[in-house]
Amino acid sequence: MCNYWQQRKAELLNLVQTHGTPLYVYDLKIIDLKNNQLKEALAKLPVTVHYAMKANENINILKHIKSLGLGIDAVSPNEIKRALQVGFDPDQIVFTPSCPGFEELSFAFKQNIHIHIGAVEYFDFVLQNYPKIPIGLRINPGNSIGGNQKIATAHQDSKFGIPFTSLQIIKSYEERGLLIDSLHIHTGSDVKTWKDLARSVDLIFDFARHFKHLKYIDLGSGFKVKYKQDDPEIDLKAYANYVQNKLNEFPYPVAVKFEPGKFLVSEAGVLLTQVNVVKKGFQKKFVGVNSGFHHLIRPMYYNAYHEIVNLSNMDAPAEKYDVVGQLCEEDTFAYDRWLSRVHTGDVLMICNAGAYAYSMVSEYNLRDKPKEIFI
Ligand SMILES: Cc1ncc(COP(=O)(O)O)c(C=O)c1O
Repeated sequence: MCNYWQQRKAELLNLVQTHGTPLYVYDLKIIDLKNNQLKEALAKLPVTVHYAMKANENINILKHIKSLGLGIDAVSPNEIKRALQVGFDPDQIVFTPSCPGFEELSFAFKQNIHIHIGAVEYFDFVLQNYPKIPIGLRINPGNSIGGNQKIATAHQDSKFGIPFTSLQIIKSYEERGLLIDSLHIHTGSDVKTWKDLARSVDLIFDFARHFKHLKYIDLGSGFKVKYKQDDPEIDLKAYANYVQNKLNEFPYPVAVKFEPGKFLVSEAGVLLTQVNVVKKGFQKKFVGVNSGFHHLIRPMYYNAYHEIVNLSNMDAPAEKYDVVGQLCEEDTFAYDRWLSRVHTGDVLMICNAGAYAYSMVSEYNLRDKPKEIFI
């Protein structure tokens, strides 16, 4: 998708003239495209899709997601408030918080938002305060997967979810009146292959057989996108077929949910930065841009690869640079990256900046936040 953005070079450079840098630019048409791919692949499943708004909680993106008929996966009371403000109905929102405070759970219960509880340690609170409201359980399937361990959330040492080995405790609370109407898993983000996801699916469908009144099983996300040209993308159709077979074998009809974040929005945004300096180190050449991990933390935090294009000088011969930010920290966007020759003032475009990009922005070093605009 970086190619698509490169073709819009003239438009992007004009936006920089008008709005300056650093600048996030989004294109809602790409979200439509991704949503259509998703719809086509999942067409035969009894499915509801809830956009994981943590990926990008920009109001215009949320409005667009709403217009596409999708629901929301929220992880904090403020995300719930924003989703309600945009006009989502409470029953279109699911709440999957990590280690929430009791007051956060109460907030969601009072707003009639369905909650996925991720620890048996919350059960007493629920039984004492909201005994008539059914809950979902986020289960940790203990599934070790390949890929980036910082975004793997379903292995045995992960803080997320209730270990699947806690079945007896869960059943004892059910006997005491705890109402459980759904199960949830989320194997991780950017999971290398759908077969890694399928192992969690196997486990949750087996686990689900111990429950007689489930309305849905939420399979989370993990849908991989392309960061590099030759990266694999998830084979959604194969994955959907796999899930369909599981549903066919299940003893009673149950619906499924998915909660994609990055699949829908990652490629829909780019970050435009300007080169402040091109400087020589002992061996390396550094391109210093007017940005850093306060604007896009994925390369530093996850070692994530983001394609970078010198929009101002696309046809010049390539040279090797480290692309760094201007924070008083290590904030390298790319090591030893071949870019067409860079000069001070050039505009560099960082691709795949639609997900976990602006939503993780900070004002570290008292630097300004970037602007966001839509084309
Ligand atoms: C519970 C849950 N659901 C959905 C997602 C979205 O994942 P992705 O952006 O990989 O689609 C996340 C991301 O961390 C998550 O924690």
